[in-house]
Amino acid sequence: MKAFALTVVLIGAATGAAAQSPQPLDAAKLEPYVKSMWSKAGPEWASVLTLDETNSICSSTRNAPSPAEYDKIVAREKATIVFPADGNVIGDWKKGEIVAQRGTGGQFTDTPETYRGGNCYACHELAAKEVSYGTLGPSLKGYGKARNFSKDEARAAYAKIYNAQSVMACSQMPRFGHNKFLSEAQIKDAVAYLFDPESPVNK
Ligand code: HEC
Repeated sequence: MKAFALTVVLIGAATGAAAQSPQPLDAAKLEPYVKSMWSKAGPEWASVLTLDETNSICSSTRNAPSPAEYDKIVAREKATIVFPADGNVIGDWKKGEIVAQRGTGGQFTDTPETYRGGNCYACHELAAKEVSYGTLGPSLKGYGKARNFSKDEARAAYAKIYNAQSVMACSQMPRFGHNKFLSEAQIKDAVAYLFDPESPVNK
């Protein structure tokens, strides 16, 4: 009975809080608190738990930086992109399909050898035949075909996948290349999945 009463009180409190306008964030209090929740994480997690300048601004402005800050972020993130030395951004679409489908790797339960996938389907529709996908990101169905398989557009897609925040300052899409989560070859394969005329994305 006591538990029931407590639940009611908590729901009441939550509803009251939701009705209020968001409180300004105090990064000096928030960041140590978030870090303390991951106190058992090994040293290899340090770079993930420390916000860089870009994400500090996105966090403190609730992903709504001023236009000047926005331009500064995009310029800074653009400068991090490393394009393939030979300029070819298109790899193997069949391997790209695996990158898009798999969401394994980089979790506490994974070993360093676990395959790292891009998990693109978690946020995007891609091949028309695939019925299971998330909708946080826009549909990428027919992406290359809709862009006439343009080389410049493929290069832009490589840049987007390498560092999404070089295009949209506070994008919710991970910075796959910048964070060294996907390799250059995997990003090229993902671009091929979007841009190869034979890829199921364009069928
Ligand atoms: C956590 C969700 C998430 C994941 C995972 C994700 N994306 Fe995205 N993506 C987004 C969102 C949200 C946008 C739209 C906002 C933006 O442009 O950043 C987007 C935009 C894009 C765009 C630009 C679309 C346009 O408007 O032209 C491309 C291309 C893209 N994603 C490719 C990929 C690929 C390839 C992968 C996997 C390697 C991937 N995304 C993984 C969330 C995600």
